[in-house]
Amino acid sequence: MKETSKLSSPIAEFNGVSFRYETGSDVLKDIQFQLQPGSFHFMTGESGAGKTSLLSLMYLDNLPTKGRVRLFGQAVDTLSRKEKARIRRQIGVVFQDFRLLPHLNAFDNVALPLRIAGTKESEIRRHVSELLAWVGLEKQLRAYPAELSGGEQQRVAIARAVINRPQLLLADEPTGNVDDVMAKRLLYLFLELNKLGTTVVIATHNQNLIKYFGFPRLHLSKGHLELLGPSNNKYVDLATKILNRGEQ
Ligand SMILES: Nc1ncnc2c1ncn2[C@@H]1O[C@H](COP(=O)(O)OP(=O)(O)OP(=O)(O)O)[C@@H](O)[C@H]1O
Ligand SMILES: [Mg+2]
Repeated sequence: MKETSKLSSPIAEFNGVSFRYETGSDVLKDIQFQLQPGSFHFMTGESGAGKTSLLSLMYLDNLPTKGRVRLFGQAVDTLSRKEKARIRRQIGVVFQDFRLLPHLNAFDNVALPLRIAGTKESEIRRHVSELLAWVGLEKQLRAYPAELSGGEQQRVAIARAVINRPQLLLADEPTGNVDDVMAKRLLYLFLELNKLGTTVVIATHNQNLIKYFGFPRLHLSKGHLELLGPSNNKYVDLATKILNRGEQ
């Protein structure tokens, strides 16, 4: 098997990484961290701190201006197109602006990664319906993105990102358009995925979620990254509570 399947290597590794857009100065400065397999992090920092930019380096949308990024053990600047596509298939992304395909309904947007992977239609029907029901959209399966509210589109985007059980899930402010009860429910979905082995990074401004779940934080401030420890480690119990009580 290829290097990417090594269990012991970090899922992502940043060494002295700086990044700037074509116009402007460095938005990420000398970033250094590793994401271990099976870890769960929040990514925090004020608006403009560089969260979306850092995530974009992790799903290969941008390359670092300086330093080295490794994903699944492979240096990203040496990847062939084929290798890049293979790595991307292992990453689920919830974009801050959703990026749903406008000509596909909710069901077909979520089904897309399974169809690309060649999953049987009967299985697709079951998995997609179940997942959309879990995120509270059982009545909107046939609705097109333009017919959905912001929070509904966001939930479709989340379902699409997790349907394939990716090895790495990157979610950019995935609860920005839903209420707190739904936000916690969605976090529980990410937690379930994490229990199955997915490494998770969630960029969020939501202080309630940060306090409630207490995952360790990748904190950005003016382009610099700081690793902050968990604020508590009882998240599994707390998450179970959400399910049992319908919310806190
Ligand atoms: N495509 C772009 N071209 C040039 N500059 C950009 C681009 N995208 C973002 N920036 C700049 O990079 C910096 C970091 O932006 P980024 O979107 O990563 O922040 P963020 O932490 O995700 O903010 P928010 O919480 O508002 O989503 C900002 O100063 C922003 O203006
Ligand atoms: Mg952002």
